[in-house]
Amino acid sequence: MSYTTIHVEASRSYDILIGRGILDSIGEMLRPIVGDCRLGVLTDSRVDELYGDRLIDTLTAAGYAADKFVVPAGEASKCADNLLEFLNFLADCKLTRSDAVIAFGGGVVGDMAGLSAALYLRGVKFIQIPTTLLAAVDSSVGGKTAIDIPAGKNLVGAFYQPSLVCCDTALMDTLEPDIYRDGCAEVIKYGVILDKTLYDKLQEPPFDRESVVARCVEIKRDVVQQDEFDNGIRGLLNFGHTFGHAIEKMSNFEVSHGAAVAKGMVIAARMAPLCGLCDVAEELSALLQRYGFDLSSPYSADDLYDAILSDKKRRGGNITVVLPKAIGECVLVTLAVEELYDKLKLILG
Ligand SMILES: NC(=O)c1ccc[n+]([C@@H]2O[C@H](COP(=O)([O-])OP(=O)(O)OC[C@H]3O[C@@H](n4cnc5c(N)ncnc54)[C@H](O)[C@@H]3O)[C@@H](O)[C@H]2O)c1
Repeated sequence: MSYTTIHVEASRSYDILIGRGILDSIGEMLRPIVGDCRLGVLTDSRVDELYGDRLIDTLTAAGYAADKFVVPAGEASKCADNLLEFLNFLADCKLTRSDAVIAFGGGVVGDMAGLSAALYLRGVKFIQIPTTLLAAVDSSVGGKTAIDIPAGKNLVGAFYQPSLVCCDTALMDTLEPDIYRDGCAEVIKYGVILDKTLYDKLQEPPFDRESVVARCVEIKRDVVQQDEFDNGIRGLLNFGHTFGHAIEKMSNFEVSHGAAVAKGMVIAARMAPLCGLCDVAEELSALLQRYGFDLSSPYSADDLYDAILSDKKRRGGNITVVLPKAIGECVLVTLAVEELYDKLKLILG
C-alpha cells in the first residue's frame, strides 16, 4: 500500500497519511497511535450509506470495538444538540480516557467529532478520516474544531489537534460535483497564497488528486506549525474568506462555502490594486471559471460591509484582509473599517 506521510509538529504532533485505497489498512495504521482501544465513530448519513459498513468491518477485523453514531448529512447537524447526543453516546459506549474518537466524513463531522474528543473526559485521542476534498486539504489539518450556534457559525470550538489523519483519496470519487468543486476553491486558495508552482499545476483541470492534496496539506502544515493558535500568519489561510463568509451569511447559506470563497477571492484580488498591490483578478477569475465557479456577486458593498462587521475576526475599528501581492504570495493588510467600505464601494458599487 503506497501512501504519503506528512508530519505535523504542533502542541500534539501527528502524521497525515494520504493515499488511494488506504481506508482498508486503517486498523494497522491506528495500532501504533491508539493501541488496543474502543473507538467512537461519528459519521453522517451519506458517508455512512456509502462507506459506513466498510469502515466498521475493517476496524472490527483489526480487533477494535467500534461504535458508530450517524447524524444527518449537512451543516445543520453541526449543532449543540448533536454534540451533546454524541457525548452521551460515547458515555453509553463506556469510552474511557484511553479510547478514541474517529471523525469519518467531511468538515461537518470532522469539526464536531474533534470538539467532542476535546470535551469528552477532558480530552480523548482523536482520529480524522476526511472524505471530502475540503476536509482533506483544510478542515482535517490544523486542529480547529467547532459547532455552530444560533448566533453564528463555528462560534463554539476549541483548538484540538488529532492524533492521526488518514486520507483515502479514493473515497472522493463519489462526491457530488458541486461538493468536489467547493474543495477546489480551497486548493486554488493555497496556490494563490503560498505556492505559484501549485497554482500553475492547477491550470488544466482536473488535477492529480493525490499529489495536489499532499501539497495543500504540506502548505497548511507549514502555516499551522508557525502559528497554531491563529494569532498571525495563519490568517493567510483566510484569503477570500472574509468576503466569502459575508456572502455565505447574506445568502442564508444557500451559496455553498467553496462557491462563496471563490467569489470572495475575486473581491480580494480586486481590492489588492486599490491597496497598492498587484492586480491578479482577471487571471484568478479565469482559473476559477475553468473550474465552473460563478463569480458574480449578488450583493452590494453595503450588504457585504454589514455582514463583515459582525465577523468574529474583526478587531476593534480595524479589519485584517488577505490580499495577493503576486500569485503565490499573499499578505495580511489591516484596514480601518471605513477604508474597507470605500474600497468595497469601488469594487461592487
Ligand atoms: N476546522 C477547520 O479548520 C475547517 C476549515 C474549513 C471548513 N470547516 C468546516 O467544514 C464544514 C464543511 O465541510 P465539507 O465541505 O466537507 O462539508 P460536509 O461535511 O457537509 O460534506 C459535504 C457533503 O458531502 C457528503 N460527503 C462527504 N463525503 C462524501 C463522499 N466521500 N462521497 C459522497 N458524499 C460525501 C456529505 O454527506 C455532505 O452531504 C463546515 O462546517 C466548515 O465550517 C472547518
